[in-house]
Amino acid sequence: MQTNIPNLTTKNLTLRPLTMDDLDAMFRLFSEPDMLKYFPNPNPPTMDRAQRMIETQIQQWEKYGLGSWGVVPHGETELAGWNGLQYLPETNEIEVGYMLSRKFWGKGYSTEGARAGVGFGFKILGLDAIIGLVHPENIASQRVLIKCGMIFTHQANYFGMEMFRYQITREEFFISV
Ligand SMILES: CC(C)(COP(=O)(O)OP(=O)(O)OC[C@H]1O[C@@H](n2cnc3c(N)ncnc32)[C@H](O)[C@@H]1OP(=O)(O)O)[C@@H](O)C(=O)NCCC(=O)NCCS
Repeated sequence: MQTNIPNLTTKNLTLRPLTMDDLDAMFRLFSEPDMLKYFPNPNPPTMDRAQRMIETQIQQWEKYGLGSWGVVPHGETELAGWNGLQYLPETNEIEVGYMLSRKFWGKGYSTEGARAGVGFGFKILGLDAIIGLVHPENIASQRVLIKCGMIFTHQANYFGMEMFRYQITREEFFISV
């Protein structure tokens, strides 16, 4: 049941629930060159993987009241990416994540979407902290986290790989807005 997933609107983007109707667009997104380069599983994507991704988001919303949205830039109709929050049961943390089609890179859209997700986490969900996990070589993604107000804390193993961990606390968020 997805009825409780709010739509968010930012200056350039609509963030709306992901559905199985997004499957083809999600697969095309995963299939763009280097899209998965810095992910724990960088192998060429399968339709199954795209489907699992969407199913996981739907389940996250049902179970934890948070998850990722589909990103659609204003004036577009097709899914351009996703971003949102994810619960990590192993460490009891909430992570912000994002992915955007290459044709929209460099416009500040991922930062805009990620900030909306982080704002939702603190203002609507009342979270204490949100983290970001990024491959040490994924500089663009580190910039996105920093522009969301996150601070590097340490390097740690998540999902079987070494990641840079960033974090913003509730206090830091409300001082910055
Ligand atoms: C990472 C990603 C989400 C960035 O999307 P985007 O919409 O272009 O991001 P923004 O425009 O909001 O900001 C990108 C920042 O990275 C910088 N950047 C972009 N490419 C860069 C590169 N190759 N090296 C260094 N910095 C880079 C930009 O200059 C910008 O920073 P600035 O505003 O300080 O100049 C996008 O590249 C992507 O989807 N990558 C594949 C999926 C991925 O890696 N997701 C993150 C997993 S943790």
